[in-house]
Amino acid sequence: MALSGKNIVLGVTGGIAAYKAAELTSRLVKSGAEVHVVMTGAAKQFIGAATFQALTRHPVYESVFVEEKDGQIAHIDLADSADLVIIAPATANTIGKMAAGLSDDMLTAAVLAARCPVWIVPAMNVNMYMHPAVQKNLKTLESYGYRLIGPDDGRLACGWTGKGRMTEPKEIFNAVDHYFSIENNVLPALVGKKVLVTAGPTREALDPIRFFSNLSSGKMGYAIAEAAERAGADVILISGPSALEDPSGVSVIRVTSAEEMRHEVLTRFESADAVVKAAAVADYRPEEVSRNKIKKNDGPLMVRMIRNPDILLELGRLKKNQILVGFAAETEQLEENALAKLEKKHLDLLVANQAGDSFAKDTNKVTFFFANGHRQVYEEMEKKQVGEKICAAVSGLLEKSEQR
Ligand code: CTP
Repeated sequence: MALSGKNIVLGVTGGIAAYKAAELTSRLVKSGAEVHVVMTGAAKQFIGAATFQALTRHPVYESVFVEEKDGQIAHIDLADSADLVIIAPATANTIGKMAAGLSDDMLTAAVLAARCPVWIVPAMNVNMYMHPAVQKNLKTLESYGYRLIGPDDGRLACGWTGKGRMTEPKEIFNAVDHYFSIENNVLPALVGKKVLVTAGPTREALDPIRFFSNLSSGKMGYAIAEAAERAGADVILISGPSALEDPSGVSVIRVTSAEEMRHEVLTRFESADAVVKAAAVADYRPEEVSRNKIKKNDGPLMVRMIRNPDILLELGRLKKNQILVGFAAETEQLEENALAKLEKKHLDLLVANQAGDSFAKDTNKVTFFFANGHRQVYEEMEKKQVGEKICAAVSGLLEKSEQR
């Protein structure tokens, strides 16, 4: 997990949005971060220190003058140990103090001493926010390299409507997760590369309300898209029907049938640097799609199925310099079938797994078969990790093809 073991200092200042800081704390802690909360005097008017202490399992800092071990200075130690400082909510008062370089409480003192990134999440009345003094202070903070998140537009606690709402904890959390993911997983050969990923099942209509499909959840393809994005690639995810949320930072194109997926993939193939086809595309579709709902009768229903185009096979024929990665879900003779597909579809890498084993699960057990004959057998692992391994392999293949 990207946040695992990261030290985050969360500054909470005195605004009504202070209660939202509790949710942010909870999300960060659940993701493995060590969160150290610093509250200003005014923040304590809105929310109790006991809430943060219970959520973080660490004492809450309220004053610069805390008892530390011999020879240690609390605000300096806190600042030195931080991987990230977030101030949420940040009031106009604290923003003003930081812009002026003041340090009359634990939070502002720690911010001045911090060498890690500092993120500010302002929250206040719209008129306070729009005041030239506050705008000027925010610009000053930006000029120090601090990152501003929000504020959002909407109805404010004071009754006014406009800019001033604190950005939702989930969104702040996603930004933090993204930040540490990138820091941990950048693959130089993938930075700025266009990577096309397909995911999920396809649905092949029989009538307006019925279709043929398969058990694919999309988890594997989404994990690859997320890993590629974290690695620095420019990612387009073409997804069949899936309940999963769009991964942040990825352009997602939702399709239903194999024909639609084919169209979206082919349109973008030429400009792609790498394509990873994790989708479980239906091999067959009903020859006829009834315009009206098919009514039952006493006898059996005969449905004639015709072949769908094999998108990956087409890409293999069209490919120039693109790195092409396919999947194989096999129930028997995994190796033999995998090698045959690798050759037939002109792939650079084939990721093979046992069919039925991995659908809808969070883990997968895969073997990589490379075009140069190299193979890599992996133990069962999280799909997120498989996604990272695939991206590392694509990165290596891109590097080699650039050297040629
Ligand atoms: N694939 C595709 N278009 C299809 C069917 C499959 O692009 N119409 C791609 C999948 O995205 C996957 C790979 O082909 O990357 C392998 O799919 P799989 O279903 O395992 O094998 P098939 O090629 O369909 O062969 P078979 O049914 O004989 O196992």
